Amino acid sequence: MSKLIIEGRRRLSGKVEVQGAKNSALPILAATLLTGDSSVIHNCPDLTDVKSTLNILRYMGCYVKQDVNTVFVDSREADKCDIPDELMHAMRSSIIFLGPLIARFGCAKLTYPGGCELGPRPIDLHLMALRLLGVEISEQHGVIECSAPHGLHGAKIALSFPSVGATENIMLAACVADGTTIITNAAREPEICDLADCLNSFGARISGAGEGTVIIDGVESLRGTMHTIIPDRIAAATYMAAAAATGGSVIVDRIIPSHLNSIIPIFEESGCTVTQKGNSILLDAPSRLDAVNFIRTMPFPGFPTDAQPPIMAMLSTAKGTGIFVENIFENRYKHVCGLERMGARIHLEGKVAVVEGVPELYGARVAATDLRGGAALVVAGLCAHGITEISDVNFIERGYENIELALTEIGASIKRL
Ligand code: EPZ
Repeated sequence: MSKLIIEGRRRLSGKVEVQGAKNSALPILAATLLTGDSSVIHNCPDLTDVKSTLNILRYMGCYVKQDVNTVFVDSREADKCDIPDELMHAMRSSIIFLGPLIARFGCAKLTYPGGCELGPRPIDLHLMALRLLGVEISEQHGVIECSAPHGLHGAKIALSFPSVGATENIMLAACVADGTTIITNAAREPEICDLADCLNSFGARISGAGEGTVIIDGVESLRGTMHTIIPDRIAAATYMAAAAATGGSVIVDRIIPSHLNSIIPIFEESGCTVTQKGNSILLDAPSRLDAVNFIRTMPFPGFPTDAQPPIMAMLSTAKGTGIFVENIFENRYKHVCGLERMGARIHLEGKVAVVEGVPELYGARVAATDLRGGAALVVAGLCAHGITEISDVNFIERGYENIELALTEIGASIKRL
C-alpha cells in the first residue's frame, strides 16, 4: 500500500488544470454498452475507479483502449450480462451497469454491491424503478438477477429521494424502452446532465435533465459517438480547499464555475476572495480563515456531500466555530478521527459535526478511510506543522488523478512512498 508524505506549512500558489469528472465518467462508460458500436470518450480521468469500469467492459466482451484521458470502447462483441463478484467488489458503483445490461441484453446478474466506507448504500430506489420499467428482479443470497421477458416499457417513476445513481440507471434503461418514461424528483447534479448529453448524442431522446423532472422518449437503438466529459467540480473544490488551508492562491482552470455555485459562497464566507474568469476560478485566501457558521449537505444544487470532508479539513484551523450537517450519507465523518489526531477539535453528534477552529494542526501518521476523507487528510497535512504520513492512499487514487503531481506544481511538498 503506498503512502503520501506531506511536509506542511507551505503556501500554495499557481494553476491547477482540473480533471474530468469521475462521477460522469463511470455512468458514461457504462452507457457505451447500449450502442453495440464504437465510442470515443475524451477528458476521461485516469483513476482506479475508471480502470475498474473498463475491466468490466472488457469482461463483457468490449474492445477497450485507454490512452491517458481518451478512452475508445467498441461494444459490438459484448455478450455477457453478468458482473463477477470480484469486479463488483472492486467498485460498488458498478451498480450503474444494471440499466445498460438490461437495456442491451434483457438480463443482468450481479452481486449486491453492499455498503461501503460511507455506510449502507441501499439500492431500493434503483430496483423499484427498474420493476416499473418491466424488469423482473430476484434477490437472493446476495445476488441480484434481472430479466425483461417482455422487454422494457416506459413508466412514470417518482423517486422518494433524488438519488444520483437511481436517476442514471433509469435514464440508461429507459432510453431504448418502448414508450415514454417520466422521472419526478430526479437528481439534478451536473453529472446527470452530462450523461443525458452523451446519451442524446448516441441518439437517445432525453429532456429535462438537470431539472426535477426528466422525460425519456424510448428510441429503437443507439449508435456510438464522441463525447467529452465535464470537469470534476469536487476535485476543483478540493484544490481550492488545499490552497485556502495554506493561505495561498490558486487558479483552477478548465472548470464550469456554475457547477460550484453552492461551494463558492462557503469560500467567500471563510474570508477568501473568489473571482470567476471564463472557465477558471481564481481564489485568494487570507493567512487564517474565518469559521463558516453553518454548512448542510444537500442534493444538487445544494452544497455537495463530496465536498464536505475537504472543506471541513480546511476550516479546522479557522478562527471560530462552525457547524456541519451531513444529510446525505450516514457515515461520512470517518475522516474526523484522522483530523483529531492532527490536533483538530471536532465534536460529532449523529449528522452534526461541530468544528472548533484551532490555531494549528500538527503532522501525524493517519490513514485514509474513504475517497473524500482521504482528500481531507491531504488538505490537513498541507497546513499542518511537520510531516504527515497518509496510508491507504488507494482510496484517494479512486477519485483524484495524480493528486501529488497537481499539488507539487503549486508548491506543496508531497511525495508518494
Ligand atoms: C453518487 O453516489 C456519487 N457517486 C457519490 O460520490 C455522491 O456522494 C452521491 O452521488 C451524492 O451526490 C457516483 O456518482 C459514482 P445517491 P450514489 O444514490 O449514486 C440513498 C464520491 O465521493 N439511497 O444519490 O450512490 C443513499 O443511501 C462518491 O465521488 C437510497 O436510500 O448516491 C444515500 O443516503 C461518494 N436508496 C443517498 O440516497 C437508493 O436506492 C444518496 O445516494 C439509492 C440511494
